[in-house]
Amino acid sequence: MAETVTLTIDGREIRAAQGEILLWVALDNDIYIPHLCADREEAHPTASCRLCFVEVEGRPAPVPACTLPVTEGLVVKTRGPQVDSLVAAGFELIMSNHRLDCKNCPANGNCELQRIAKARKLRLKPKNLPVLDKNLPVDDSAANIIYDPNKCVLCGQCVRACRRSGNGTLGFARRGYLRVVTTFGNIPLGESSCTNCGACVKVCPVGALTDKQ
Ligand code: SF4
Ligand code: SF4
Ligand code: FES
Repeated sequence: MAETVTLTIDGREIRAAQGEILLWVALDNDIYIPHLCADREEAHPTASCRLCFVEVEGRPAPVPACTLPVTEGLVVKTRGPQVDSLVAAGFELIMSNHRLDCKNCPANGNCELQRIAKARKLRLKPKNLPVLDKNLPVDDSAANIIYDPNKCVLCGQCVRACRRSGNGTLGFARRGYLRVVTTFGNIPLGESSCTNCGACVKVCPVGALTDKQ
């Protein structure tokens, strides 16, 4: 059995299994840390969204909570000037590449972007950066799934879930601003190896992959 350690998050003493990832320890104890890309099912975090920063006593710079195994005596703060400014900048960057249309979005009310904005008192609409709409076509060719790449935040959750489901239909293509989640050969989902299992829809934290209903 894993050894139990005691750590402190935002002044609260918490017991957890040694080596458990701080992000999950915090969330399981009702302490919210913004996150998009972390995946409990995967052993190696991609740490790509850069939203889960925390301050760790004794460390000079904030650390992504999704990469930090807990140890005895760890002291963490989920807020602080450095963390807040990193999260605000990261969030603004994500939202500058996101088609914001909450009123008409199936994820409205159950969207991780809305949750982050509310928790950290951030605007969904970027203040300092222009919004660059990818202006890509919405793919409604699959039987049960609608994919709107303009709302994708490139968290990679669907790509990993699709791989775990045994299909491996979804993957990343291109780089930088043009980076996109798509099928092999960039063909519509309905013409791809997609079996409509819906594993991707279940894990998409925003309104990019939704059920057709
Ligand atoms: S994905 Fe979330 S933030 Fe984006 S339009 Fe839909 S509800 Fe709004
Ligand atoms: S489609 Fe959804 S789950 Fe997939 S990368 Fe984009 S936001 Fe993440
Ligand atoms: S959840 Fe840690 S970097 Fe995305």
